[in-house]
Amino acid sequence: MKKVTIRTLAKMKREQTPIAMITAYDYPSAVLVEEAGADVVLVGDSLGMVVLGYDSTIPVTLADMIHHTKAVTRGAKRAMVIADLPFLVAHLSRDEVLKAAGKLMQEANAYGVKLEGGSEIIDQIRALVQAGVPVMAHLGLQPQSVNKLGGYLIQGKDPSSALHLIEEAKKVEEAGVFALVLECVPEELAGQIRDQLSIPVIGIGAGRDCDGQVLVFHDVLQIGGGDFQPSFVKTYADVGELIKQGIRSYVEEVKGHQFPAEEHVSHLSPETEQHLYG
Ligand code: KIV
Ligand code: NA
Repeated sequence: MKKVTIRTLAKMKREQTPIAMITAYDYPSAVLVEEAGADVVLVGDSLGMVVLGYDSTIPVTLADMIHHTKAVTRGAKRAMVIADLPFLVAHLSRDEVLKAAGKLMQEANAYGVKLEGGSEIIDQIRALVQAGVPVMAHLGLQPQSVNKLGGYLIQGKDPSSALHLIEEAKKVEEAGVFALVLECVPEELAGQIRDQLSIPVIGIGAGRDCDGQVLVFHDVLQIGGGDFQPSFVKTYADVGELIKQGIRSYVEEVKGHQFPAEEHVSHLSPETEQHLYG
């Protein structure tokens, strides 16, 4: 079992081996994604939406992230486990950001952290990197800013915002991040950024010209959630339907007196029965 490190990912970029990253939020999902061969497991703050039932990532706390990251790192031993810094944390003082990353790495055993943003938090990124924290940046659509943006919209479509995004990507690379997640940007722009950076660029809704892809566990498997599915998501198995069928059969068998059946039942020995009931 060879652990995935930042050197593994850098080598994958150099050799053009695509990086497969997916989210997980608890022990069983971490075991499954690791056994399925994922290189990087993200404990995303998307957990607020797909696991905790909030309608954005904004309510997720550092305590939530620590709690779920602990469970994930108990399950994933080979894959690199990255934990999101939740809403606002990356904008706090250098000390506060270092403390938050420290908790995710020391208490919850994360390999490193991911944070949304570029030049506005460049000092915090530098402080983390200087302290030895592996930092993954996240640009393009930043879901923590959904209220400011007015929705989950594609970013970098016009020339000035496209150029701005390229500049931001270069700045976070200069600040020392080891990888960059690009969310919801046109394929051509993601390709440009991938070509201009020497760190791996991992896309979600960013097209094919990235060094890797990331998707949300519950989207890939269609578990829970509503009817809305962004167009960049591909569902690989309808596990939600399978779960529902399984639970429905259980409920029906309980109500129909079919479960438990003889093979699920234990009995008293004849001697004990004799002793008790004569
Ligand atoms: O929280 C998350 O799941 C993420 C990915 C979508 C990149 O940040
Ligand atoms: Na996130």
